[in-house]
Amino acid sequence: MNGIDGKTALVTGAGSGIGRASAERFAADGANVVVADIAAEAGRETVDLIEDAGGDATFVEVDVADFESVERMVDIAVDTYGSLDFAHNNAGILTGFAGVTDIEEAQWDKLLDINLKGVWACLKAELPVMEAQGSGAIVNTASESGLVGIGGLASYSASKHGVVGLTKTVALEYATRGIRINAIAPGPTNTNIQSGMSEGSDPSEMEFDTSAMIDVPMDRIADPEEMAGAVAFLCSDDASCITGHTLPVDGGQAAD
Ligand SMILES: NC(=O)c1ccc[n+]([C@@H]2O[C@H](COP(=O)([O-])OP(=O)(O)OC[C@H]3O[C@@H](n4cnc5c(N)ncnc54)[C@H](O)[C@@H]3O)[C@@H](O)[C@H]2O)c1
Repeated sequence: MNGIDGKTALVTGAGSGIGRASAERFAADGANVVVADIAAEAGRETVDLIEDAGGDATFVEVDVADFESVERMVDIAVDTYGSLDFAHNNAGILTGFAGVTDIEEAQWDKLLDINLKGVWACLKAELPVMEAQGSGAIVNTASESGLVGIGGLASYSASKHGVVGLTKTVALEYATRGIRINAIAPGPTNTNIQSGMSEGSDPSEMEFDTSAMIDVPMDRIADPEEMAGAVAFLCSDDASCITGHTLPVDGGQAAD
């Protein structure tokens, strides 16, 4: 992909699913990759996969909900590779389907801390480095649930609408400073997070409308590599005039 070779990319939640595919894609396009995840064993596996394929990667353990941990992650990235050109702020969790009055306060706080505060923490740590360089591109992982309401996913949908709003706002703040900030909005994608959904009620048996989550016009679940392709495009020079945009990668869900 245009403009990625020889640069440094940081991916959070890179131990699994979309983050792992994104890290592997950055490496295949020639970037040095910082693989960041709270799950150390999974993150190291991603590094092994990249190295086995001839790429260069370093694992950093991080909890994106903790700003000090995120600052340390960015410091290690810069100390290791000398720059930070791309960031994919992707770590996130999904708890099961539940009506809004059934969500426990602690569950709400945990999900918002990881999915929304975590993206803010990453931006806060990454942007000063990119600003000092005068260049950079960031992609946040939102969701189809950040574009439409989905019954049974109040905390998740609120967090992902927050990511979309954060992306637009920060893109405006940095529009003249050489840094582009975009988001992807994945539809249902074949990763471990899908198993989190099964911890709650069966969405097809819920009394509210969950069709926006379940129905995909292309009639299939996406592969993580299809998300990675969109991230690579948004970071590449081919997207040089795109900022503040949330790109649905959802088999047509957003068009429905
Ligand atoms: N899979 C889907 O259908 C889908 C759809 C829309 C959006 N998304 C979003 O995609 C992103 C990636 O999810 P995925 O589907 O690849 O799931 P996944 O569970 O396979 O991967 C998520 C990764 O994030 C890591 N993580 C969790 N909490 C963390 C924390 N506090 N700090 C650092 N890392 C942490 C996990 O260890 C895991 O490796 C998430 O933001 C998710 O909300 C996924």
